Amino acid sequence: MTDAAKNTTPTALQAVRGMNDILPDDAPLWLHLEDTARRVFEQYGYRFLRMPIVEPTPLFVRSIGEATDVVEKEMYTFEDKLSGESLTLRPEATAGIVRAAIQHSLTYERPQRVWTHGAMFRHERPQKGRYRQFHQLDVEALGFAGPDVDAEQIVLLARLWKALGLESSVTLKINSIGDPADRRAYRETLAAYFSPHFNALDDDSKRRLSTNPLRILDSKNPEMQSIIENAPRMLEQLGADARAHFDGLRRWLDSAGLVYEIDTRLVRGLDYYNRSVFEWVTDRLGAQGTVAGGGRYDGLFESLGGKPTPACGFAAGMERLVLLLKENGQNADSAPLAYLVHQSDAAAALAWRLAETLRDAGHDVVLHAGGGSMKSQMKKADASGARFALILAEDEVRDGAVTVKWLRETGQTQQTVPIDGLIAWLAAITI
Ligand code: HAM
Repeated sequence: MTDAAKNTTPTALQAVRGMNDILPDDAPLWLHLEDTARRVFEQYGYRFLRMPIVEPTPLFVRSIGEATDVVEKEMYTFEDKLSGESLTLRPEATAGIVRAAIQHSLTYERPQRVWTHGAMFRHERPQKGRYRQFHQLDVEALGFAGPDVDAEQIVLLARLWKALGLESSVTLKINSIGDPADRRAYRETLAAYFSPHFNALDDDSKRRLSTNPLRILDSKNPEMQSIIENAPRMLEQLGADARAHFDGLRRWLDSAGLVYEIDTRLVRGLDYYNRSVFEWVTDRLGAQGTVAGGGRYDGLFESLGGKPTPACGFAAGMERLVLLLKENGQNADSAPLAYLVHQSDAAAALAWRLAETLRDAGHDVVLHAGGGSMKSQMKKADASGARFALILAEDEVRDGAVTVKWLRETGQTQQTVPIDGLIAWLAAITI
């Protein structure tokens, strides 16, 4: 290569750090997860909706809360060059769903069960199970006040884990963080507790002591764990209504036979929650073990300018679920039934028609493209994962037949099948 040529060779670009491609080898597992989730959500009457990926920044600041990690340091925020408006790539889906529900008066006539899925964006330090673009399955019940719906969503997740074969990989934690008045009182209790320990707190926690002492409980800093462990618990300070709600949730979960741990330290990282909060966790993914989290957010509609509307919901991290499925050795198969190889122009034309006929009959068929020797075509047939190679060469064209070669099962011999009997032959084989 000449120097001039070298200088003009473009460097290959890489994806943005923490943002992943989902390649065809992995995609079947993703599609399996999406299909299974969709089926389970529909079973409970949740209807699909899709919102924009970009929303006005104040939507997230007002809903998630100014003193949260997400709003303080993780949002992808930019100025719209034309309007000058501040916009943000959604870091989660709840705020957008509530915005859409208010904008379109979705809950005007009756409560709504809805769900969505898609990409979310948070500028976190990437590691296994934590990415900057990640995907959530998000389920929300809008306009429901009782603990029966909190329980319904938890039970729905238990059903999803079962359908995915993950039921023995995850456990359930629940807590109540009370109503706003309970929490105001609890904040004061916590501030009074942590203040004498001020020098032992890390910088984040020192700051949170005045902004939101509840978030200190969320700290993962090992040096602070013993102080945190001895802090007073919210659950002991619940007001009567929040207490009754939590007892109700427990009764529903007990009647469904679900096993759970009451984790009095569970506070969640977003400010809109009240009363019930829950997480499903696994110990199989290292530090990023929360596969789904959610809770009740009865005040969010009002704080975004809507009518008072009690609501609850959760989101599950799809990357973490795919990792768990892989850990469990699960594979989703996307191989075609047959790979059609052909030699000669006449065979190519016949193969084209045969492939369409087989697809009409509902079979997945890959038609070889790009020419090449029979040997190289057979290699591609094998690599496709297909169960059969269907071979059309001169003899077959002459006889109106196709040679079927088994690519997976051993002990099966190659055989020739008349073309007009092939669909019946496949039907008999694939039963
Ligand atoms: P969240 O706890 O922030 O809640 O996220 C829910 C789930 O999304 C997590 O448990 C985790 O599985 C996944 N997740 C979060 N961040 C990342 C990341 N950086 N990389 C990979 N996975 C991640 C919410 O987002 C709330 N909107 C849930 C909710 C819905 N609450 C009520 N309704």
